[in-house]
Amino acid sequence: MLGVETSCDETGISVVEGGRVRANVLASQAELHARFGGVVPEVAARAHVESIRHLVHAALLQAGLQWGDLAGVAATQGPGLVGSLAVGFSFAKAMAWALEVPLIGINHLEGHLFSPRLEHDAFTPPAVVVLASGGHSQVILVRDWGDYQLLGETIDDAAGEAFDKVGRFLGLGYPGGPAIDRASEGGDPASIKFPRALAERRQGFSFSGLKTSVVTTVRKLDQDGHLPALADVAASMQEAVVDVLVERTFNAVEDTGAKVVAGGGGVLANRRLRARLTEEAARRRLALFLPSPGFCVDNGAMIAIAGAFRLGRGERTDGSAEVSSVLSLFPAG
Ligand code: KG4
Ligand code: ZN
Repeated sequence: MLGVETSCDETGISVVEGGRVRANVLASQAELHARFGGVVPEVAARAHVESIRHLVHAALLQAGLQWGDLAGVAATQGPGLVGSLAVGFSFAKAMAWALEVPLIGINHLEGHLFSPRLEHDAFTPPAVVVLASGGHSQVILVRDWGDYQLLGETIDDAAGEAFDKVGRFLGLGYPGGPAIDRASEGGDPASIKFPRALAERRQGFSFSGLKTSVVTTVRKLDQDGHLPALADVAASMQEAVVDVLVERTFNAVEDTGAKVVAGGGGVLANRRLRARLTEEAARRRLALFLPSPGFCVDNGAMIAIAGAFRLGRGERTDGSAEVSSVLSLFPAG
């Protein structure tokens, strides 16, 4: 199964066979968008057009396969940037048509839900999965593959967005998440107490106040002649996000009785978050499955494995299907 991911600013192409990744290539546009401080949709779509054909060739070469060996083509159908989605999805449609193999449209978030499975065969539902990326922050109960219940989500910014905004303020560039992760090394996570919004709730996140809080706190400390060390600000801000994500994840575990916990999305590459989830899961004797950092961020492999699963169930997507920037993973209502 070929997997095509172009929902945002990474062109990810992968070949998965029997649940194993045979090829995985990625063209990140991070540098392209860095000078704008965030993703510019038109620039992103254009860059996907420029790289996709070359990447598909590279993936087939890496897998040692010919076009004709493919059993199907899976591509992200939504949610995401509509121009970016259209590039990958149209490419996949054309390939599936030309090769006379099934086309499978995949919800990007379902791809992230499948991502722990790429390296862990033991990861099976039911499970509580925390998804945190630049676009989403959600806690989801995976009752079974294809059967998802949203337990809680952000009411404003996503966790990755908070990292990106604070990273920009701290002059660390885009994307802010990996930069804050690195900058936090040696910092004291308890040195500055940033707010944990919605602390009274068992589910739901709010990260939009965090950037304002970082800005006002750092400026105030500076005015008072106590400009804090960058490592302390980074570690403290990171801790505020991690605290909330970890707490809501294990609230969901308690509320559902799940025995399996997993994560996906770019923010799950965060070392502090991974350590805290690992610690808490061990304490509660729960199985925890995290993708390696390369499969936390957007990639084609997670789309391919979700596509292989759907194809295995006899599903396929009609060639007349369209992308949707707001495609939902959950039944309406
Ligand atoms: O899943 P992803 O690649 O794309 C979306 O679907 O959004 O996630 C990208 C997000 C960015 O906001 C980035 O800052 C964040 O994931 N991120 C991190 C780390 N690596 C990536 N956040 C915190 N710590 C990291 N190490
Ligand atoms: Zn993503």
